[in-house]
Amino acid sequence: MLDSLKNEILRLRDERDALILAHNYQLGEVQDIADFTGDSLELSFKAANCEKSLIVFCGVTFMAETAAILAPGKTVLLPVLEAGCPMADMADAPRLRKMKSEHPGALVVTYVNSSADVKAESDICVTSANALKIVSSLPSDKEIIFVPDKNLGAYCAKMTGRKMILWPGFCPTHMRITPEHILKRKSEYPGAKVVVHPESPLDVIALADEALSTGGMLKYARNSPAKRIIVATEIGLIYRLEKENPDKQFIPVSEQAICPDMKMTRLEDVLAALKNMKHVVKIPEKIANLAKIPIERMMAESRKA
Ligand code: 13P
Ligand code: SF4
Repeated sequence: MLDSLKNEILRLRDERDALILAHNYQLGEVQDIADFTGDSLELSFKAANCEKSLIVFCGVTFMAETAAILAPGKTVLLPVLEAGCPMADMADAPRLRKMKSEHPGALVVTYVNSSADVKAESDICVTSANALKIVSSLPSDKEIIFVPDKNLGAYCAKMTGRKMILWPGFCPTHMRITPEHILKRKSEYPGAKVVVHPESPLDVIALADEALSTGGMLKYARNSPAKRIIVATEIGLIYRLEKENPDKQFIPVSEQAICPDMKMTRLEDVLAALKNMKHVVKIPEKIANLAKIPIERMMAESRKA
Protein backbone atom coordinates (compact mmCIF):
# COMPACT_ATOMS: atom_id res chain seq x y z
CA MET A 1 0.00 0.00 0.00
CA LEU A 2 2.73 2.40 1.11
CA ASP A 3 4.87 1.36 -1.84
CA SER A 4 2.09 1.94 -4.36
CA LEU A 5 1.45 5.39 -2.84
CA LYS A 6 5.15 6.25 -3.10
CA ASN A 7 5.39 4.90 -6.65
CA GLU A 8 2.35 6.93 -7.73
CA ILE A 9 3.89 10.09 -6.23
CA LEU A 10 7.18 9.50 -8.02
CA ARG A 11 5.41 8.72 -11.32
CA LEU A 12 3.35 11.92 -11.12
CA ARG A 13 6.38 13.90 -10.01
CA ASP A 14 8.15 12.96 -13.23
CA GLU A 15 5.06 13.43 -15.39
CA ARG A 16 4.55 16.92 -13.96
CA ASP A 17 8.26 17.80 -14.12
CA ALA A 18 8.25 18.49 -10.38
CA LEU A 19 10.86 18.83 -7.66
CA ILE A 20 9.73 17.70 -4.21
CA LEU A 21 11.31 19.66 -1.35
CA ALA A 22 10.86 18.78 2.32
CA HIS A 23 11.93 20.50 5.52
CA ASN A 24 13.92 18.54 8.10
CA TYR A 25 10.89 18.49 10.48
CA GLN A 26 8.59 16.74 8.00
CA LEU A 27 7.32 13.21 8.66
CA GLY A 28 9.88 10.52 7.79
CA GLU A 29 7.65 9.10 5.03
CA VAL A 30 7.58 12.54 3.37
CA GLN A 31 11.34 13.02 3.72
CA ASP A 32 11.82 9.63 2.08
CA ILE A 33 10.02 10.59 -1.16
CA ALA A 34 11.49 14.12 -1.34
CA ASP A 35 14.17 14.95 -3.90
CA PHE A 36 15.83 17.06 -1.25
CA THR A 37 15.35 17.51 2.49
CA GLY A 38 16.99 20.41 4.28
CA ASP A 39 16.86 23.48 6.49
CA SER A 40 15.25 26.78 5.51
CA LEU A 41 18.39 28.17 3.87
CA GLU A 42 19.24 25.02 1.93
CA LEU A 43 15.66 24.77 0.69
CA SER A 44 15.73 28.41 -0.46
CA PHE A 45 18.83 27.72 -2.54
CA LYS A 46 17.25 24.58 -4.00
CA ALA A 47 14.13 26.54 -4.99
CA ALA A 48 16.17 29.39 -6.49
CA ASN A 49 18.24 26.96 -8.59
CA CYS A 50 15.36 24.64 -9.52
CA GLU A 51 15.34 23.54 -13.16
CA LYS A 52 11.94 21.84 -13.01
CA SER A 53 8.73 23.71 -13.80
CA LEU A 54 6.95 22.73 -10.56
CA ILE A 55 8.02 22.74 -6.91
CA VAL A 56 6.02 20.74 -4.35
CA PHE A 57 6.98 22.24 -1.01
CA CYS A 58 6.49 19.93 1.97
CA GLY A 59 6.82 22.42 4.80
CA VAL A 60 4.89 25.46 5.97
CA THR A 61 3.51 28.56 4.26
CA PHE A 62 6.46 30.93 4.69
CA MET A 63 8.82 28.38 3.14
CA ALA A 64 6.62 27.83 0.09
CA GLU A 65 6.19 31.60 -0.23
CA THR A 66 9.95 32.10 -0.13
CA ALA A 67 10.34 29.45 -2.84
CA ALA A 68 7.69 31.19 -4.98
CA ILE A 69 9.45 34.54 -4.56
CA LEU A 70 12.82 33.06 -5.52
CA ALA A 71 11.47 31.07 -8.48
CA PRO A 72 8.95 33.42 -10.08
CA GLY A 73 8.71 31.43 -13.32
CA LYS A 74 7.76 28.21 -11.51
CA THR A 75 4.56 26.94 -9.98
CA VAL A 76 4.94 26.26 -6.24
CA LEU A 77 2.48 23.94 -4.49
CA LEU A 78 1.91 23.70 -0.73
CA PRO A 79 0.16 20.33 -0.22
CA VAL A 80 -1.65 21.40 2.99
CA LEU A 81 -2.93 24.94 2.90
CA GLU A 82 -3.38 25.12 6.67
CA ALA A 83 0.29 24.29 7.39
CA GLY A 84 1.43 27.67 8.67
CA CYS A 85 3.92 28.95 11.22
CA PRO A 86 2.50 30.48 14.41
CA MET A 87 5.67 32.53 14.84
CA ALA A 88 5.39 34.00 11.33
CA ASP A 89 1.77 34.90 12.15
CA MET A 90 2.95 36.95 15.16
CA ALA A 91 4.29 39.74 12.93
CA ASP A 92 2.43 41.90 10.42
CA ALA A 93 3.39 44.70 8.07
CA PRO A 94 1.30 47.56 9.59
CA ARG A 95 2.82 47.05 13.07
CA LEU A 96 6.29 46.68 11.58
CA ARG A 97 5.83 49.98 9.72
CA LYS A 98 4.86 51.59 13.05
CA MET A 99 7.97 50.15 14.74
CA LYS A 100 10.14 51.44 11.87
CA SER A 101 8.66 54.92 12.23
CA GLU A 102 9.56 54.85 15.95
CA HIS A 103 13.18 53.93 15.14
CA PRO A 104 14.08 55.91 12.04
CA GLY A 105 17.33 54.74 10.49
CA ALA A 106 17.22 51.30 12.10
CA LEU A 107 17.86 48.31 9.84
CA VAL A 108 15.14 45.67 9.75
CA VAL A 109 16.55 42.14 9.98
CA THR A 110 13.82 39.60 9.37
CA TYR A 111 13.88 35.90 10.10
CA VAL A 112 12.62 33.96 7.05
CA ASN A 113 9.90 32.60 9.32
CA SER A 114 7.73 35.57 8.36
CA SER A 115 5.10 36.52 5.80
CA ALA A 116 5.94 37.98 2.39
CA ASP A 117 4.32 41.25 3.56
CA VAL A 118 6.75 41.50 6.48
CA LYS A 119 9.73 40.61 4.30
CA ALA A 120 8.66 43.37 1.89
CA GLU A 121 9.23 45.86 4.77
CA SER A 122 12.70 44.51 5.57
CA ASP A 123 16.32 45.31 4.75
CA ILE A 124 17.72 41.80 4.96
CA CYS A 125 16.50 38.32 5.85
CA VAL A 126 18.26 35.69 7.92
CA THR A 127 17.80 32.03 8.75
CA SER A 128 19.11 30.29 11.84
CA ALA A 129 22.04 29.08 9.70
CA ASN A 130 23.34 32.56 8.83
CA ALA A 131 21.84 35.01 11.37
CA LEU A 132 25.09 35.59 13.32
CA LYS A 133 27.12 36.10 10.16
CA ILE A 134 24.61 38.51 8.64
CA VAL A 135 24.03 40.55 11.80
CA SER A 136 27.81 40.87 12.23
CA SER A 137 28.13 42.15 8.66
CA LEU A 138 25.76 45.11 9.19
CA PRO A 139 27.16 48.64 9.66
CA SER A 140 27.99 49.02 13.36
CA ASP A 141 26.48 52.51 13.70
CA LYS A 142 22.98 51.25 12.87
CA GLU A 143 20.31 50.11 15.29
CA ILE A 144 18.70 46.79 14.36
CA ILE A 145 15.04 45.83 14.52
CA PHE A 146 14.87 42.03 14.64
CA VAL A 147 11.59 40.41 13.54
CA PRO A 148 9.74 38.21 14.56
CA ASP A 149 11.75 35.79 16.78
CA LYS A 150 12.75 37.41 20.06
CA ASN A 151 14.82 34.35 20.97
CA LEU A 152 16.92 34.24 17.82
CA GLY A 153 17.22 38.03 18.05
CA ALA A 154 18.39 37.89 21.67
CA TYR A 155 20.90 35.19 20.76
CA CYS A 156 22.27 37.33 17.90
CA ALA A 157 22.45 40.37 20.20
CA LYS A 158 24.34 38.39 22.82
CA MET A 159 26.81 36.84 20.39
CA THR A 160 27.49 39.94 18.28
CA GLY A 161 27.14 42.66 20.94
CA ARG A 162 24.76 44.54 18.63
CA LYS A 163 21.92 46.62 20.02
CA MET A 164 18.63 45.05 18.98
CA ILE A 165 15.03 46.07 19.14
CA LEU A 166 13.26 42.73 19.44
CA TRP A 167 9.84 41.95 18.04
CA PRO A 168 8.01 39.89 20.70
CA GLY A 169 7.46 36.76 18.57
CA PHE A 170 8.52 33.20 19.35
CA CYS A 171 8.21 29.61 18.19
CA PRO A 172 5.71 27.83 20.47
CA THR A 173 7.44 24.49 19.82
CA HIS A 174 10.88 25.69 20.94
CA MET A 175 9.40 27.68 23.83
CA ARG A 176 8.22 24.34 25.24
CA ILE A 177 11.85 23.31 25.77
CA THR A 178 13.05 24.39 29.23
CA PRO A 179 16.42 24.37 31.03
CA GLU A 180 14.99 21.61 33.25
CA HIS A 181 14.49 19.37 30.20
CA ILE A 182 18.15 19.79 29.25
CA LEU A 183 19.41 19.28 32.79
CA LYS A 184 17.31 16.13 33.16
CA ARG A 185 18.68 14.64 29.93
CA LYS A 186 22.24 15.63 30.85
CA SER A 187 21.93 13.75 34.13
CA GLU A 188 20.38 10.74 32.37
CA TYR A 189 23.10 10.70 29.67
CA PRO A 190 26.31 11.99 31.28
CA GLY A 191 28.93 12.92 28.69
CA ALA A 192 26.42 13.35 25.86
CA LYS A 193 26.77 16.49 23.73
CA VAL A 194 23.85 18.92 23.59
CA VAL A 195 22.71 20.78 20.47
CA VAL A 196 19.91 23.35 20.59
CA HIS A 197 18.13 25.42 17.98
CA PRO A 198 18.57 29.19 18.44
CA GLU A 199 14.77 29.61 18.41
CA SER A 200 15.13 28.46 22.03
CA PRO A 201 15.33 30.94 24.92
CA LEU A 202 18.80 32.10 26.05
CA ASP A 203 18.68 30.09 29.31
CA VAL A 204 18.24 26.92 27.24
CA ILE A 205 20.97 27.86 24.76
CA ALA A 206 23.33 28.52 27.68
CA LEU A 207 23.22 24.82 28.58
CA ALA A 208 24.16 23.58 25.10
CA ASP A 209 27.44 22.70 23.46
CA GLU A 210 26.24 24.21 20.17
CA ALA A 211 23.33 26.36 18.96
CA LEU A 212 22.65 25.35 15.35
CA SER A 213 20.10 25.35 12.55
CA THR A 214 18.64 21.96 11.71
CA GLY A 215 21.11 21.68 8.82
CA GLY A 216 23.90 22.65 11.23
CA MET A 217 22.82 19.91 13.64
CA LEU A 218 22.97 17.30 10.88
CA LYS A 219 26.47 18.44 9.96
CA TYR A 220 27.55 18.44 13.62
CA ALA A 221 26.22 14.89 14.06
CA ARG A 222 28.14 13.72 10.99
CA ASN A 223 31.44 15.32 11.99
CA SER A 224 31.45 15.05 15.78
CA PRO A 225 33.16 12.08 17.40
CA ALA A 226 30.33 12.11 20.01
CA LYS A 227 28.32 8.90 20.04
CA ARG A 228 25.42 10.35 22.03
CA ILE A 229 23.79 13.69 21.25
CA ILE A 230 20.90 15.33 23.10
CA VAL A 231 18.80 17.16 20.53
CA ALA A 232 16.83 20.25 21.58
CA THR A 233 14.63 21.01 18.60
CA GLU A 234 11.48 19.73 16.92
CA ILE A 235 11.54 15.93 17.13
CA GLY A 236 11.14 15.43 13.36
CA LEU A 237 14.87 16.00 12.99
CA ILE A 238 15.63 12.78 14.89
CA TYR A 239 14.43 10.71 11.90
CA ARG A 240 17.15 12.04 9.60
CA LEU A 241 19.81 12.11 12.32
CA GLU A 242 19.24 8.40 13.00
CA LYS A 243 19.01 7.48 9.34
CA GLU A 244 22.30 9.19 8.50
CA ASN A 245 24.17 8.11 11.65
CA PRO A 246 23.12 4.55 12.52
CA ASP A 247 26.09 4.15 14.87
CA LYS A 248 25.10 7.13 17.05
CA GLN A 249 22.36 7.73 19.59
CA PHE A 250 20.14 10.83 19.43
CA ILE A 251 18.10 11.73 22.48
CA PRO A 252 15.15 14.08 21.95
CA VAL A 253 15.20 16.59 24.77
CA SER A 254 11.43 16.59 25.05
CA GLU A 255 8.73 14.51 23.38
CA GLN A 256 6.58 17.67 23.55
CA ALA A 257 8.78 19.51 21.07
CA ILE A 258 6.43 18.84 18.16
CA CYS A 259 5.36 21.42 15.60
CA PRO A 260 1.78 20.45 14.64
CA ASP A 261 2.01 22.44 11.39
CA MET A 262 5.11 20.54 10.28
CA LYS A 263 3.29 17.26 10.86
CA MET A 264 0.22 18.08 8.75
CA THR A 265 1.64 16.93 5.42
CA ARG A 266 1.22 13.21 4.76
CA LEU A 267 2.03 11.19 1.63
CA GLU A 268 -1.66 11.31 0.66
CA ASP A 269 -1.44 15.12 0.63
CA VAL A 270 1.67 15.10 -1.55
CA LEU A 271 -0.12 12.81 -4.01
CA ALA A 272 -3.27 14.98 -3.99
CA ALA A 273 -1.13 18.08 -4.55
CA LEU A 274 0.45 16.55 -7.65
CA LYS A 275 -2.83 15.14 -8.96
CA ASN A 276 -4.91 18.29 -8.49
CA MET A 277 -2.11 20.88 -8.81
CA LYS A 278 -3.00 22.29 -5.38
CA HIS A 279 -2.44 24.54 -3.53
CA VAL A 280 -0.72 27.04 -5.77
CA VAL A 281 1.18 29.64 -3.73
CA LYS A 282 0.54 33.09 -5.16
CA ILE A 283 2.01 36.34 -3.90
CA PRO A 284 0.95 39.71 -5.33
CA GLU A 285 3.69 40.80 -7.75
CA LYS A 286 4.43 44.07 -5.98
CA ILE A 287 4.93 42.34 -2.62
CA ALA A 288 6.94 39.52 -4.20
CA ASN A 289 9.30 42.01 -5.88
CA LEU A 290 9.84 43.89 -2.62
CA ALA A 291 10.23 40.72 -0.53
CA LYS A 292 12.77 39.29 -2.95
CA ILE A 293 15.28 42.07 -2.19
CA PRO A 294 15.99 41.15 1.49
CA ILE A 295 15.92 37.42 0.67
CA GLU A 296 18.45 37.81 -2.14
CA ARG A 297 20.66 40.02 0.05
CA MET A 298 20.68 37.19 2.56
CA MET A 299 21.58 34.63 -0.07
CA ALA A 300 24.38 36.80 -1.43
CA GLU A 301 25.83 37.18 2.12
CA SER A 302 25.53 33.42 2.66
CA ARG A 303 27.50 32.67 -0.48
CA LYS A 304 30.45 34.72 0.82
CA ALA A 305 33.13 32.58 2.44
P1 13P B 1 15.91 25.67 10.17
O1 13P B 1 15.62 24.33 9.56
O2 13P B 1 16.27 26.66 9.13
O3 13P B 1 16.89 25.56 11.27
O4 13P B 1 14.53 26.23 10.76
C1 13P B 1 13.86 25.68 11.81
C2 13P B 1 12.43 26.03 11.82
O5 13P B 1 11.82 26.25 12.81
C3 13P B 1 11.73 26.07 10.59
O6 13P B 1 10.43 26.37 10.84
FE1 SF4 C 1 7.11 27.86 13.01
FE2 SF4 C 1 8.29 26.79 15.15
FE3 SF4 C 1 6.82 25.26 13.59
FE4 SF4 C 1 9.19 26.19 12.73
S1 SF4 C 1 8.86 24.76 14.41
S2 SF4 C 1 7.25 26.14 11.59
S3 SF4 C 1 9.22 28.19 13.73
S4 SF4 C 1 6.09 27.00 14.82
